[in-house]
Amino acid sequence: MTVPDLYVALVHHPVLDKHGTIVTTSVTVIDVHDIARSCRTYGVRGFYVVTPVDALRGLVRRVLRHWDEGFGSTYNPNRSEALGLVRLERDLEGVQIDIEAARGRLPRVVATSAREGDARVSYADFRDELAASPEPWLLLLGTGWGLTDDVLRSADRRLEPVRGTGSYNHLSVRAAAAVILDRLLGSG
Ligand SMILES: C[S@@+](CC[C@H](N)C(=O)[O-])C[C@H]1O[C@@H](n2cnc3c(N)ncnc32)[C@H](O)[C@@H]1O
Repeated sequence: MTVPDLYVALVHHPVLDKHGTIVTTSVTVIDVHDIARSCRTYGVRGFYVVTPVDALRGLVRRVLRHWDEGFGSTYNPNRSEALGLVRLERDLEGVQIDIEAARGRLPRVVATSAREGDARVSYADFRDELAASPEPWLLLLGTGWGLTDDVLRSADRRLEPVRGTGSYNHLSVRAAAAVILDRLLGSG
């Protein structure tokens, strides 16, 4: 099976807070660990942690160094292998430029949200499109109360929400990432 050319970005700005205000969220280290493992499992090419806060990029850099060179690299090499996918960028433009430098073309963007909205593509349709696409794609995951309307609107595609069995729909971004990657790339 040819693995599609998919990158993932975890966005900490611009995102919404519970009042709908645009904010910058903090980086949660467990998100970085768990989403990196999911990305590694499903053949994602790179996992970008996006934050404009220098101190938070520094924090993630220290975690990565521990698992790449420190005690963690021998204690748990599987985790270290997954974290090898992690890249740090200040903003989404930086992510796009980095992918363009690696792949020779800008990625197309697919956004995710728990909110119902317009112009959504089903997982089945987008899975087929991704498999056939000659271009790299960048999957956006939000934090806080999710990606802003501007980011959702500017994406080339917006996936429909992952839905459960009732009206409760409050997945963590880590859980949502695993479900979404399995629907788009899983072989089981
Ligand atoms: C804590 S959730 C934010 C929930 C927010 N209400 C929203 O509009 O997406 C953080 C991120 O996880 C992902 N996510 C969470 N639940 C999801 C769902 N049911 N469907 C798709 N993505 C989801 C999205 O990337 C979202 O931005």
